[in-house]
Amino acid sequence: MKIAFFDTKPYDREAFEKYGKEYNIKFKYFETKLNEDTVDLAQGYDGVCAFVNDTVNEAVIDRMAQMGVKVLALRCAGFNNVDMKYAFGKIHVLRVPAYSPYAVAEHTMALLLTSIRRIHKAYIRTKDFNFSLSGLTGFDLYGKTVGVIGTGRIGRVFIDICRGFGMKVLAYDKFPAAGLDNGDTIRYVELNELFEKSDIISLHCPLTEDTHHIINGDALDVCKRGVVILNTSRGALVDAEALLAGIKSRKVGAACLDVYEEESDFFFEDFSGHIMEDDTLARLISMPNVIVTSHQAFLTQEALENIAETTVKNIVGFFETGQCPNELCYRCGTAEDCRDGKCF
Ligand code: NAI
Repeated sequence: MKIAFFDTKPYDREAFEKYGKEYNIKFKYFETKLNEDTVDLAQGYDGVCAFVNDTVNEAVIDRMAQMGVKVLALRCAGFNNVDMKYAFGKIHVLRVPAYSPYAVAEHTMALLLTSIRRIHKAYIRTKDFNFSLSGLTGFDLYGKTVGVIGTGRIGRVFIDICRGFGMKVLAYDKFPAAGLDNGDTIRYVELNELFEKSDIISLHCPLTEDTHHIINGDALDVCKRGVVILNTSRGALVDAEALLAGIKSRKVGAACLDVYEEESDFFFEDFSGHIMEDDTLARLISMPNVIVTSHQAFLTQEALENIAETTVKNIVGFFETGQCPNELCYRCGTAEDCRDGKCF
């Protein structure tokens, strides 16, 4: 079996080579992202393996189908970059629903601690033998209220971590998890109450029409002054312009972003020698109370292993049986995991 692998980075290859050999899949690694201009590279391949910033729109889907590509194997959980409605009946879309919720939740806490204890500032100071503490005052997490939007796999691990710090949790989810609300330290509330009462807000829901810009100007107006915004989920959950305005007006105390609305133009690449074209991103990064990482939350050894193993097993299972439990299906639901794996 031959699979065209797009947006390859050196850290992808080791685990994919290992599982590819084990299951007799030959990967051809392309460094370029998948889009209308590059899709023809998949000519002659049985499937395509894509990641979060590859573009799978109507034109790309049509071309893959014309070339006889049977399967699109996403090596990620999110699928907002795939036009699922259009893909239905043309190409089977598989994903890795979970590979390490710990990787993302732990990165979220790492960002939060770095930000509120000013570790990013202290690191640079002591490297320069500047041992002054001025301006490094932080605050305790103990006793603070964290609002968690999305209580799925990652959100729940993040809640556990926050509880370990003695924080109170206000949760919001369109489909609340049974047994999570204990009526005391963890409570499901309406979104407005979460905005009003949280000292810190962390996003762990998928990007959908409902959640697009869930953090916008109106939401920030309701928030406490000094609120800390954490986004390790998807960039477009936050209206970046509104966030920037909130930072400038001092309404937002700090922001930690592992994702950014326009990240596909920049993230994963080295732009250090270039003029940054995105003024909003440049301005956000220039702020002393904003930390940006480059969609890095997933990047642990454990996650890379799990991603490769599940992706390879998805592909093999699909070609052997015509079914895959990790297929995304527009017909079964609104692009939820396919319930019967044989919709078309
Ligand atoms: P999950 O599917 O286990 O949980 C998502 C939760 O969001 C579910 O409980 C769902 O009911 C809830 N939800 C759906 N629609 C909602 C809405 N309109 N409002 C509030 N909640 C809603 O997903 P998981 O594994 O926890 O991942 C969450 C997100 O994290 C993914 O969608 C992805 O965007 C992001 N992610 C980011 C990574 C990174 O490297 N930064 C890596 C992996 C995932």
